[in-house]
Amino acid sequence: MITNDSPHNSPELPRIGGPEFKTHAHERYAELRRRGPIHRVRTADGSLGWLVVGHELAREALAHPKLSKDPEPFADQLRASGRHILLAGSGFGGNMLMADPPEHTRLRRLVSGVFTTQAVERLAPRIEHLAHQLIDDFSGHNSTDLVSSYTTPLPITVISELLGVPEEARADLLAWTRHAMRAPSELQRSGLLALNEYLGGLLRAKRRAPADDLLSRLIAVRDDDAGTLSETELLGTAVILVVAGHETTVNLLGNAVVALLDHPDQARALRDDPGRVPAAVEEFLRYDSPLELTPTRFATEEFRLGGELIRAGETVTVSLTSAGRDAPVEEGADPDELNVLRDRARHVAFGHGIHYCIGAPLARLEGAIALQVLLSRLPTLTWEDPTEPVAWLPAGITRGPVRLRVRFTATGGVRDPEVR
Ligand code: HEM
Repeated sequence: MITNDSPHNSPELPRIGGPEFKTHAHERYAELRRRGPIHRVRTADGSLGWLVVGHELAREALAHPKLSKDPEPFADQLRASGRHILLAGSGFGGNMLMADPPEHTRLRRLVSGVFTTQAVERLAPRIEHLAHQLIDDFSGHNSTDLVSSYTTPLPITVISELLGVPEEARADLLAWTRHAMRAPSELQRSGLLALNEYLGGLLRAKRRAPADDLLSRLIAVRDDDAGTLSETELLGTAVILVVAGHETTVNLLGNAVVALLDHPDQARALRDDPGRVPAAVEEFLRYDSPLELTPTRFATEEFRLGGELIRAGETVTVSLTSAGRDAPVEEGADPDELNVLRDRARHVAFGHGIHYCIGAPLARLEGAIALQVLLSRLPTLTWEDPTEPVAWLPAGITRGPVRLRVRFTATGGVRDPEVR
């Protein structure tokens, strides 16, 4: 999170972020929620800003008309306060996640058709095939780290195939994205620059030799009607689809596996009734949101949020991880408890309002298929060492396990030779 210093500055402000906070995130957020739905906080890198931790207030903030996603008007003020600046000068611009209407509306409309539930449904056989193939690759052993062997390669392969990113570049893309998702820092900046440079080169190559992929289609839009999409916006769209399109899904899968390993009875219930997995994906998103913190929003003018006075130029971030544990559940139920058989888990893990995640249908599909295949192929999945605490990714706005060391016996599963 980046923000200006302000008269609210106080050494006693709650600190969020950092390895200790990440390890005990749910306890720390519960403490904050007990004191109110919004707080002035200091992040691990020393920045100050407002943090929303309650579910209802999260919905209000995510759709608030006085909270802008465009940091450029605030760039000078941020630079003057010595903050690392995510966008200005980093080359990471021209994308819908960091734009307000009307630019946001135009940029979003260009790709929204590609990610509808109907459009992504045709990817299902390929995703299922990839999931089986990944399990085939490690099924000869009886232990693995599922983060490196399953939950990471699946989403990166799916989004790369959709966009047209060659296989040999995917490991680099993954590393650069990890850096890009960290708190504002030199590492984040270098990750974004590397992504920009690589994807800029890839766009030039595809302009010379178009293929049947999303990046080639975006280039055609740009070249056929120069008023539709500027060159910066073309690159910005490519970068945001790569950055937003896989690390979040990696953590959806990782967090769901952590929850299932910690609740074997619920894993059994889903093995007995795999048709319930898609609804369970919503519960996993609520229970441990893969995106812990939203990207920063900027107050365009003074207003009140949850009773607090937000001044023009101040920043507001929403903790989706906290909001999930504050979401309304059935009467008498406890939102801190996982219930994969819940009919309809409510959550804001995909955001709310005009920036609601454009990739949600794809993420839901990948989540459901990956978990169904995993549960059916590895019927005896357990932690390798149940006493070892989960190590959570230590920095940045995402939330997910660093590794998932598991034991299992694999079965043949239901591989379809037609799609191999
Ligand atoms: C489980 C996986 C995912 C989660 C939890 C997630 C979460 C989110 C959230 C919370 C937002 C809104 C951020 C805000 O309001 O500040 C968002 C926006 C976005 N997401 Fe996702 N996302 C996921 C997967 C994907 C995938 C697979 C794609 C790409 C295909 C994608 C592309 C985007 C884009 C382009 C936006 C910006 C939309 C806009 O500004 O209008 N996401 N995502």
